[in-house]
Amino acid sequence: MNHKIFTPFTLPNGTVLPNRIAKAAMEENMAAPGHLPGEEICQLYNTWAKGGTGLFITGNVMVDHRAMTGPGGIALELDTPLEPFKKWVAAATQYDAKMWMQINHPGRQVYAAMGGKVLSPSDIALNMGKHSHLFGKPTAITEAEINEVIERFVTTATRAAEAGFHGVQIHAAHGYLISQFLSPLTNQRQDKWGGSLENRARLLFEIVTAVKNALPAGVALAVKLNSADFQRGGFDANDALEIVKQLEGLKIDLVELSGGSYESPAMQGGTADGRTLAREAYFLEFAKEIAEQTSLPIMTTGGITRLPIAQKVIDEGVEIVGIGRALAFNPELPKLWQTSPDTRVTIPEIKWKDKTIASVAMMAITKRQLHRMGKGKPPKLNASPLFSLIADHMRSQKLTKIYRKAYQKS
Ligand SMILES: Cc1cc2nc3c(=O)[nH]c(=O)nc-3n(C[C@H](O)[C@H](O)[C@H](O)COP(=O)(O)O)c2cc1C
Repeated sequence: MNHKIFTPFTLPNGTVLPNRIAKAAMEENMAAPGHLPGEEICQLYNTWAKGGTGLFITGNVMVDHRAMTGPGGIALELDTPLEPFKKWVAAATQYDAKMWMQINHPGRQVYAAMGGKVLSPSDIALNMGKHSHLFGKPTAITEAEINEVIERFVTTATRAAEAGFHGVQIHAAHGYLISQFLSPLTNQRQDKWGGSLENRARLLFEIVTAVKNALPAGVALAVKLNSADFQRGGFDANDALEIVKQLEGLKIDLVELSGGSYESPAMQGGTADGRTLAREAYFLEFAKEIAEQTSLPIMTTGGITRLPIAQKVIDEGVEIVGIGRALAFNPELPKLWQTSPDTRVTIPEIKWKDKTIASVAMMAITKRQLHRMGKGKPPKLNASPLFSLIADHMRSQKLTKIYRKAYQKS
């Protein structure tokens, strides 16, 4: 099959990706004790490695174990042993795929039950309606804490490179800390970190510059950015274009475009401001427009499950196709597409009235597939969303208890 999507792509730093299909970051919540990658996560990537994906981007890895996006998460800090991370890279790269680590700080998107440090540019809590109480109340981050965060991103990135990762991706999307700085809704600071877009983007640019300077040559640097927050008054498409143009000057290797946050889960196809996204390849229009105006390679992720759509993304001038859930339900999709181009994955639609719970159920049913593969089992295509939600909730409660106990000790 003569599709351009299966041809190699050379990144600005010279790295050659064997094809243009990337597994987007999906938080696995499968850490072994000590917030480390263990046997199960290696088994999962082992399974994925056989499937023909060209680039693996890990689920988000925390820069600070005191601020986690969820229980069972992985953290890479100054004193973290590197051996488990080396095994993780080895599992993913048995064939010729590349493996990047996504690195993140949750900011205010921290579950209250987890506890820990809940920081945000301003002390504005998440508004999730009747579910708001599930999240910690943030305090406004201080200048000293901002500097510590920047340093932590550098530490995690350089240690990832030391462990053998071929690149790192800075998570500046989905309403986490950097994205909170970018949005005027969550960043109401009056100092040099708030106000104008230049100020709101200062944290992102300080992190990207510091990481770029610290990474060895040949290790790729990427940023995941929202094409918009899809909230009235939030970070919008013009802001995203401006940021990408500035990132071009920093000579990074890739920008992945997604969208949304916990408050407006556009990355799953739903928005809080009522705007309608495409039914497939949710952010393609934005990505195409941005790709036309930059020389930086662009990747877009969201709603891609079929080869014709994936190929359309490439045909419209976007260099890399990001796929998340479809690879959780079928880890061999890229390989299958080469011989059976009609292969498609049906991601269950969860049309519950409570959009927040529906979105959590979607995460749960997807993670269930990751956990099954971690145990050497195939994905379960007819899994029940309700059962997955309950099972995930119980699992999370157990892991949260373990985290709180360990956190209180450290
Ligand atoms: C279980 C799950 C975990 C996720 N974890 C992350 C993450 O750690 N970092 C991130 O940038 N996006 C994360 N995402 C969002 C995906 O990267 C992607 O943007 C989203 O699922 C839409 O793409 P898809 O339609 O191909 O799944 C996650 C999505 C799911 C379903």
